[in-house]
Amino acid sequence: MTARRSARTRAARLGEAESRVGSARALADGLHPTTVWAFDDLDAVDAWYEGRSPDTFLYYRNGGPNPAALEAAVADLEGAEAGVAAGSGMAAISGAFLAVAQAGDHIVSDQSVYGGTTVLLRTELARLGIATTFVDATDPAAVAAAIRPTTKIVHVESLSNPLLRCPDLSVLAEIAHRAGAILSVDNTFASPILLRPCEHGADIITHSLAKYLGGHSVAVGGVAVGRASIVAAARDRLIRFGGTIGAFDAWMTLQGMKTLPLRMAAHAQNGARVARALADRADIVRVYYPGLTDHPDHVVASRLFPDGLGGMLSFDVGSAATARAFFAAGAEIGIPLAPSLADTRTTVSYPAGTSHRALSRHERYAIGVTDGLIRLSVGIEDADDIVADLDAALTRAKTA
Ligand SMILES: Cc1ncc(COP(=O)(O)O)c(C=O)c1O
Repeated sequence: MTARRSARTRAARLGEAESRVGSARALADGLHPTTVWAFDDLDAVDAWYEGRSPDTFLYYRNGGPNPAALEAAVADLEGAEAGVAAGSGMAAISGAFLAVAQAGDHIVSDQSVYGGTTVLLRTELARLGIATTFVDATDPAAVAAAIRPTTKIVHVESLSNPLLRCPDLSVLAEIAHRAGAILSVDNTFASPILLRPCEHGADIITHSLAKYLGGHSVAVGGVAVGRASIVAAARDRLIRFGGTIGAFDAWMTLQGMKTLPLRMAAHAQNGARVARALADRADIVRVYYPGLTDHPDHVVASRLFPDGLGGMLSFDVGSAATARAFFAAGAEIGIPLAPSLADTRTTVSYPAGTSHRALSRHERYAIGVTDGLIRLSVGIEDADDIVADLDAALTRAKTA
C-alpha cells in the first residue's frame, strides 16, 4: 500500500484519469460539456435510476464527470466523507441548510457572517418557517443560551467576513451535538489548506468556489462537503431546486485547485506581512487580522491555524470619506476595488457598501462593520510591492 501523499502532492495531481487514445492518454483532465448522456438501451437507464451503475451519468443537473471530480477533490482536501458541488456559494449554503432544517426548525448563526448569508437566513429561510437567532459565536455561552429544542444547525464562518472572527469550532461542535444539532462551517476564507473543520467536529463545510479554491476570478460555484448523509440530502435539494454547477466552472475550479496549497502559503505569508505594515501606520484606526495580538480571537486563531491565517484582513480608516478617497487612489495605483476576494492579485472591497449593504447602519456597527472599514484581499504578488501600493493609496487618501 502506498502512503497517503501530502495535500500539496494530492492537489498538484488532481484530475480524473483520462481514457487512452492509442497507446497514451492526455495528461490534463478532460472537460465534458455535454448536457445529457446517451444510453445503449432502456435497461441501462433503469440501472442508473436504481443506483446500479454508480459511475454513469444521466443529465447535467444530476451530476457529471467534472462536478464529480471537483466534489471528490474538495472532500479529499477537507478530510470529509463526501461532497456536492453547486452553482454558487449561496446555493451550497442553501442546499446544506435545507438538507437539515425544515418548517418549524431553528438555526443559531454567528452574527458576524457574510451579509448574503445573513439575508438568506432572515428572509428566504424565515419565509419557509425556519427561524434564526444571531449571536456572537466567539462566546460559546451565547450560542448555548440561544439553542432551542427545535435547533438543527449552528452556523459559523471559520474566519468571518469581513472581521476575521474565529469561533472555537470544537467547543461549538460539542454544544451543537449535545443539542442534537449539527455544526455548519463556511470555510471560504480559510480554505482546507489552512483549516479542516471536520477535524474539529464540524458536520458540513461550505465554500464559495469563486474565492480561494478557484483562485483566479474566472470560475463560479459552491461546494458542501461533510457527513455523507447530509451531503446526500443537500444533493437532493440542489437537484430539485436546480442549483447544480456547470461542467466548465467545475473543470476550471479544479485547474485552480492544483496550486491551492502554494497560493495559500503565499497569501498567508503576505497577509501577515501586510497586516503588520498597516498596524504600524498611525493613520489607521484599527487592523483586523487574527495573527495580530490585538485581535479579539488571536489566541483561538493561533491554536486553530498553525499554518497561517490567510490573506484576508480588514482595516478601518475612520470615515466613509477617507475610504472613498482610498478606493479612488487604489484604483489608479493598481489595487482594484472589486467586491469579491481571493484573486492572485491584491484587491479591496467596501463591506458597508457591498456584502453588508442590506444591513441597517445600526446592525453593521453592532458587529463592527463601520463606514470606514475596508476589506483587503492580499494577493500573492511581491509583499514589498503590495505594501508600497497600499502606502501610496493611503497617503493619497489622507491628502485628498
Ligand atoms: C464567506 C462567504 N461565504 C459565501 C459567499 C457566497 O458565495 P457566492 O457569491 O459564490 O454565492 C461569499 C461571497 O462573497 C463569502 O464571502
